[in-house]
Amino acid sequence: MRLMREVRFSVGPSVGSPITNSWGGWPTASNVQPYLVLRSRVDGEPDPVTGVVCNIAAIDRLVRERTIPLVSRLVHQPRVTGETLIQAVAADLRPHPPAGTQWIDWRLFVTPYLSYGLTRGAFTMIDVSQQFEFSASHRLHCDGLSDEENRSTFGKCNNPNGHGHNYVVEVTLTGEPDPLSGVLLPVDQFEHTVRKHAIEKLDHKHLNHDCPEFAGLNPSVENIVRVVWRMLVDRFAPAVLKRVRVWETPKTFAECEG
Ligand code: NI
Repeated sequence: MRLMREVRFSVGPSVGSPITNSWGGWPTASNVQPYLVLRSRVDGEPDPVTGVVCNIAAIDRLVRERTIPLVSRLVHQPRVTGETLIQAVAADLRPHPPAGTQWIDWRLFVTPYLSYGLTRGAFTMIDVSQQFEFSASHRLHCDGLSDEENRSTFGKCNNPNGHGHNYVVEVTLTGEPDPLSGVLLPVDQFEHTVRKHAIEKLDHKHLNHDCPEFAGLNPSVENIVRVVWRMLVDRFAPAVLKRVRVWETPKTFAECEG
């Protein structure tokens, strides 16, 4: 059984104050301060009596006692990067799994959209995920089906003149950070590549009519993932494209990995 726990915190002077709002984050950003989120996962057997893998308060305690002071120290140092920060956090937590569990992985969000992940079993590799947006029209329609079959299969998504979505794309890279710079790939280079090779080709387009990538290809969210993958794969060396996830609405995403 896997268990995920998220701890939200700001990096500021209020370490040691009472916990007043762990939802909004503790220490509270009582002034304008960096705000981070650490997602940790553990696995283990749920206790037959209590039904829990571990007490989530034990994870919170570890993060509050170890990680928050560590990040508060490191974040103001020159040359600290997201990659070096998650490496330091994971190296510090790894010898201290909550009782009865093993750590699986950790993911540090430095913004709501940009995060750095590290897995216990692949300790030199870092994942970097960033989100992007584009708006586009599409019509779900297959030339190989009759009009009636298209209507019954895709319903209102088969509307002849199309309809629109605000798509969110999350791109995840993986690899070993450069030992000198401490980064896997500079974030601006990462973003420029995604923007140039994917977002600009799709944004404010009618996918069926404006985008040759969808010629003869139904622009379902699954096929959008496939197209974005093909647009981006092999463009991030020495980092490797690990995963593409596309939300068509906040309720629907598709993804492919590896
Ligand atoms: Ni649609």
